[in-house]
Amino acid sequence: MIDFLGDWKRSSYCGELTAQNVGQEVVLMGWAARRRDHGGLIFVDLRDREGVAQVVFDPERSPESHAKAETVRSEFVLAIKGTVSPRPEGTVNPKMKTGEVEILVTECRLLNSSKALPFTLDGFVDVNENIRLKHRYLDLRTATLQGNMILRSKVAQLTRQYLTDNGFLEIETPFLTKSTPEGARDFLVPSRINKGDFYALPQSPQLFKQILMVSGFDRYFQIVRCFRDEDLRADRQPEFTQIDCEMSFIDREDIISVMEGLMARIFAEAKGVQVQLPIQRMTYAEAIRRFGVDNPDLRFGLELVELSDLVVNSGFKVFADIVKGGGIVKGMNVKGAASMSRKEIDDLTEFAKIYGAKGLAYVKMTEEGWQSPIAKFFTPEEIASLDQAFGAEKGDLLLFVADKPKVVNDSLGRLRNHLAAKLGLTDPNDYRFVWITDFPLLEWDADEKRWCAVHHPFTAPMDEDLEYVESDPGRCRAKAYDLVLNGNEVGGGSIRIHQEEVQSLMFKMLGLSDENARGKFGFLLDALEYGTPPHGGIAFGLDRLMMLLTGSDSIRDVIAFPKTQKGACLMSEAPSGVDPLQLRELGIRLAKQ
Ligand code: AMO
Ligand code: AMP
Repeated sequence: MIDFLGDWKRSSYCGELTAQNVGQEVVLMGWAARRRDHGGLIFVDLRDREGVAQVVFDPERSPESHAKAETVRSEFVLAIKGTVSPRPEGTVNPKMKTGEVEILVTECRLLNSSKALPFTLDGFVDVNENIRLKHRYLDLRTATLQGNMILRSKVAQLTRQYLTDNGFLEIETPFLTKSTPEGARDFLVPSRINKGDFYALPQSPQLFKQILMVSGFDRYFQIVRCFRDEDLRADRQPEFTQIDCEMSFIDREDIISVMEGLMARIFAEAKGVQVQLPIQRMTYAEAIRRFGVDNPDLRFGLELVELSDLVVNSGFKVFADIVKGGGIVKGMNVKGAASMSRKEIDDLTEFAKIYGAKGLAYVKMTEEGWQSPIAKFFTPEEIASLDQAFGAEKGDLLLFVADKPKVVNDSLGRLRNHLAAKLGLTDPNDYRFVWITDFPLLEWDADEKRWCAVHHPFTAPMDEDLEYVESDPGRCRAKAYDLVLNGNEVGGGSIRIHQEEVQSLMFKMLGLSDENARGKFGFLLDALEYGTPPHGGIAFGLDRLMMLLTGSDSIRDVIAFPKTQKGACLMSEAPSGVDPLQLRELGIRLAKQ
């Protein structure tokens, strides 16, 4: 028998009740997380979004409620009236916020039943993620995901408040739009009214936010969904949320200082962590040199050491030839790791190979000096100078990669993070921010045989490098910056090109003909000709920030309805086939598979 809610109104959340509430009459509503029968008394852990309270059904006090409680199973929905009481001596649970009290039930309404669950919600048993995603409505009832979503809402509110206080206007931009190039593939939406034409879902509001600056809105923000059809990973979803900002009449320093304030506010209020301001800065060149990557995790050392000059004339031909051929040799000193087994070192080698390394030479620093397959190729003087470069001491493990600079930096940079995780060098409660600045403007894409924008095509070159845009594109630095937190790129932005001639030159460098550029971004080029203020901005990945704030392993755990690595929503079963009639209306016929 299911009861109606009737005129009952909830007086408190279950999770809010403490000793302060003792004596109060309360009305609680929620889900039965657990039921225990104890010689007449029935205890139900009643759960709502704020937590769990223990409610007690006593056959003496209310036989009718007790009879209902006997039928309660996991996840039945209940409303109870009762009195908040101290728990009897010896039954206080200090681990629970509500652990000092229990609610003695005087009346109960059984609002709904539930099928038996496909998995338990207490988090004690590991459940296959696909089963959790299929029943996402249940997974979202778990304390972890409820906490994550509540914190996410709080961070969104803090962001709105902070940016509004700083003069930013919240303005929406279209989802049905034209392609904006942020380097990924577009999701396309066919137009019924204009058959054969397609909208693209925005990879970011980049062009629209710049046009809002042309229109004079001066400071814009939006907490906005972006869509990118790219290969998915733990920190990438096909739709994700940016905190997107743009400002006029400013330079890089203005943006950096406003955004540092935003980070400090979020971390202080959502996490109780004081961010040291100003946030440390590092140029792109320094990040690559010392850490091999442009998103260095600064919680640990393991810095890369440049060794090319020390090995170029050595007897180890592999290294010497690579350096003579324009490659480099770098290494890393893994302190105290000389005891690593052969198998462990082989695993590290396999890891480095994923990023293109052809091998991973190693040296164990033992009592007798170098123990290594490559020791025989080096003179005692060379060994001494390498030891010095590494700061090597007995017990250390030295690792080397020789190759083209990109391969050396990529493989050692990734290996550095991999080793830190393996050796437990990453403290999850340590938050190390760093701004990476002075990115290259362009990079050569060997596959496409053309220059590509490192950030995006609207990013301005550094004033002093403008003269090299055409003559020496690789040398040109951009007014771009990323915010990196513990090895994750949480935000990126730039000062934009605000002169039509420079924007046209940039498109030319990217191999876009005038006609092509007009076809794609004519509206931006037009707008730039009508009095564009100097402007710039940034976008933060809200999902990545939330992943770090909640200590989650994946952004899936901070998104209510995420997609799998294959881009599917297992709950709604999207993507899916459509009715042939829908396709006909759109003028689309599918190619035979
Ligand atoms: P960018 O492409 O660097 O810049 O994106 C900004 C931030 O968005 C996050 N992010 C993602 N998060 C989850 N899943 C994804 N697939 C994904 N892709 C990006 C990252 C990244 O730092 N329009 C520019 C910003 C600007 O120049 O103002 C832009 O979109 O945290
Ligand atoms: P080899 O002389 O080819 O047997 O190599 C000796 C050691 O050097 C092995 O441990 C290899 O893994 C390593 N090695 C080979 N090529 C490279 C390279 N390009 N960079 C770093 N180590 C390498």
